Amino acid sequence: MYGLVNLAVQDLVTKNFGEETWQRIKTRAGVEEEAFLRLTMYPDKMTYDLVGAACAELGADAEAILRTFGKFWIGFAMKEGYRELFLISGRDMKSFLGNLDNLHARLGMTFTGMDAPSFTVVDKGENELELHYYSSRPGLAPFVQGLLEGLGEVFKCEVDARIVSTREQGHDHDTFFVRCTPITTGQSTATTRGS
Ligand code: HEM
Repeated sequence: MYGLVNLAVQDLVTKNFGEETWQRIKTRAGVEEEAFLRLTMYPDKMTYDLVGAACAELGADAEAILRTFGKFWIGFAMKEGYRELFLISGRDMKSFLGNLDNLHARLGMTFTGMDAPSFTVVDKGENELELHYYSSRPGLAPFVQGLLEGLGEVFKCEVDARIVSTREQGHDHDTFFVRCTPITTGQSTATTRGS
């Protein structure tokens, strides 16, 4: 995967656990690169190995790490110069998710030859949707759950993203049921004052 992804893993680890832990994770994963270049393509195995090594060093399971990483990725991408892209890709969660393939297609102009995932949305009523996730890579459903939770912060809603079915169960893609409840601010203060 593109170096930007490995850089995000590095940023997540160093911010939360420090540089020494990151060096231990890199060594355990057998990564010899001094630094990752965001626009250089690295083998997928390197990213998977970094996640595996992080699990061992931090004593966490892969699902938890991938989910945390997904949530972190949203803020990371914003900070790395993609805020504008988020803003033009949708006004709310549903329209944004419906535009994800366009978003990655635009990114494909910079990250040439990227092997982007594909998503389709099925509207399930107010604040609810089904998300279908197609990828050439295995095991990333928890990463998508984390991404959805991170997007909840962008679109000011509380996200409940449940896995409905997975490729591990024999399907050709992963499916999620997503509820995105708008967070209304200021209401609790008014209620407290009134009581
Ligand atoms: C502007 C923000 C974003 C940027 C810059 C970005 C960029 C990337 C890049 C560079 C990759 C690696 C692909 C490769 O190297 O072959 C990737 C993969 C991926 N992206 Fe995005 N992305 C963004 C937003 C999102 C969002 C919002 C979602 C979903 C909610 C998403 C879902 C994924 C997934 C699941 C992968 C893993 C690859 C796979 O499934 O095969 N991305 N993205």
